[in-house]
Amino acid sequence: MGEEKQKTIVNSWNEWDPLKHIIVGKADNCMIPPLEPAVDAKVPLDSEMRRLAGTRRSQESVDRANTQLDNFCDTLRKRGIRVDRPAPMDFSQPVQTPDWKVECMFTCMPPRDILLTVGNEILEATMSYRCRWFDYLCYRDLLNKYFEEDPNMKWEAAPKPRLTDATYKPGYKERSRTEEDKLRLVAAKDFITTEVEPLFDAAEVMRCGKDLFVQHGMTANLKGIEWIRRHFPNHRVHAVNFPGDPYPIHIDATLVPLRPGLAMNNPYRALPEEQRQIFYKNDWEIVDAAKPAHDEPPPLCYSSVWLSMNVLIIDPRTVCVEASEVYQQEQLDKLGFEVIPVPFRDAYPFGGGLHCATADVYREGKCEDYFPKQIEGF
Ligand code: ALA
Repeated sequence: MGEEKQKTIVNSWNEWDPLKHIIVGKADNCMIPPLEPAVDAKVPLDSEMRRLAGTRRSQESVDRANTQLDNFCDTLRKRGIRVDRPAPMDFSQPVQTPDWKVECMFTCMPPRDILLTVGNEILEATMSYRCRWFDYLCYRDLLNKYFEEDPNMKWEAAPKPRLTDATYKPGYKERSRTEEDKLRLVAAKDFITTEVEPLFDAAEVMRCGKDLFVQHGMTANLKGIEWIRRHFPNHRVHAVNFPGDPYPIHIDATLVPLRPGLAMNNPYRALPEEQRQIFYKNDWEIVDAAKPAHDEPPPLCYSSVWLSMNVLIIDPRTVCVEASEVYQQEQLDKLGFEVIPVPFRDAYPFGGGLHCATADVYREGKCEDYFPKQIEGF
């Protein structure tokens, strides 16, 4: 089917229904972000990115990432999926609001971070990094087009946060000098952001029909999760934690639903026993994700080797997995999936894996209740 002929429909309730239309990011002009407070808490302690903060990535690395992103788009298009791309800006520009100024912006490689599609709504997340304050501009042409073409599309934006110094905990850097410190703080749910205003990145939300699971971590605070709860009154919103992750940001290399009744969890970032109960009570199985094929992420990458489990599900039987992640491929094959290997490691440093690099516009299906048995207080 020619993609131009597809009618624009905004509709996506979960991570697995048959995919028809998606946004895939671009690596153009991507910067290594400045070490503002929230970025500082996320960039690995030993990363070269600390020294290179606020600089451009090499054109050669951008080109390599774009080649893989373009190839990924072709793979999706060949399966009849419509693919749109954002409009990169000159991210080397400094940005400021009345409250602060940072020396540069970041990227439009991972649309998943900012765009949350729930049913016929696309919601622009608040974000929590100053350098990402203007990310939404890269997607505005697309969202405007969907708004014009689909009379049922709801276009929403969460309140822009002020991100003053009051948004970040003073002294957090001093308290998190080692990985042990970080793990201790995460276990105590002590993250870089305060609760002065609602904050969330869209990639903290795992969509399972009527239930939304949101990671409380470095880019989503409790007020942000409460905002999501009030914004989607017909959903049930659950805050989840992953104590084993020293850099808890974005749920999609940690807990990934594969199809109704089956999810995979990063074995080093186990969902706490009390938070698993809702899955077990509703006959879901949670399997440990296969180990990554690599010991290290590629150079200048914010993410961990667990991008291995950052898969894009095309339908409940078909999944895109990074081409070198042989163990993850094998596991999903055994679980009954057709696995499409997609080379993507060159794109990882620009903001993540195959799920991070995309944002749903249309998946078939409607809002279903996969967790009819709820747990009180969760
Ligand atoms: N923050 C996630 C990870 O690196 C994407 O594992």
